[in-house]
Amino acid sequence: MPAPNILALSGSTRAGSLNTKLLGTVCRDLALLDCNVTRISLADYALPLYDGDLETRDGVPENAHRLVQLFNDHDGYFIVSPEYNGSLTPLLKNTIDWMSRVSEIDGEKVSAFRGKIAAIGAASPGSMGGISMLYHLREILVRLGTLVVSEQVAVGNAGKVFDENDRITDERSAEFLEKCCKSLVFTAGRLRVEP
Ligand SMILES: Cc1cc2nc3c(=O)[nH]c(=O)nc-3n(C[C@H](O)[C@H](O)[C@H](O)COP(=O)(O)O)c2cc1C
Repeated sequence: MPAPNILALSGSTRAGSLNTKLLGTVCRDLALLDCNVTRISLADYALPLYDGDLETRDGVPENAHRLVQLFNDHDGYFIVSPEYNGSLTPLLKNTIDWMSRVSEIDGEKVSAFRGKIAAIGAASPGSMGGISMLYHLREILVRLGTLVVSEQVAVGNAGKVFDENDRITDERSAEFLEKCCKSLVFTAGRLRVEP
């Protein structure tokens, strides 16, 4: 089975973000599997708040094109995000909304989400770990054409579960995360389309 290319990103760019710590664990777990991992930060792809008038006037921002190209170059992706009022962060939703406006780059059809495999996760200081956000994120990604693996991880009490090396000390969460990563890599490898 060919090693799939997996992109990994967090819906929080906050200094000290619990989800960025989770992303670190995701990338370490993925690195143990047969895949190539690219970790990015949305801080490097700043975008204005989506505005239809802005799009009509100036077109889709370059950073949205860069992100779509990156997604297009990968077989799958792992997104972690905080839960804000039961849903995803404005940063992540805004990024997805801009990306969904790009269907062509340099005259070539591109697809950021369609035909991709994804896994999703969340970390929260609350006991539920951001589980409500995961339902919303899953629904959005599926609507955009991604196959989201059934395994997912919601790390509760996240303020207390990461050690000084940002490793998860909670066995149950660590096990869920490992299962997510394995499922993502297995599925992305199976469904990988050779260019
Ligand atoms: C506007 C806002 C809404 C929030 N709503 C929720 C929520 O619905 N559920 C939850 O578990 N935590 C909620 N939180 C707390 C976040 O989970 C917490 O701030 C977390 O540390 C943010 O993720 P980060 O550390 O990766 O930046 C909310 C935080 C903010 C700022």
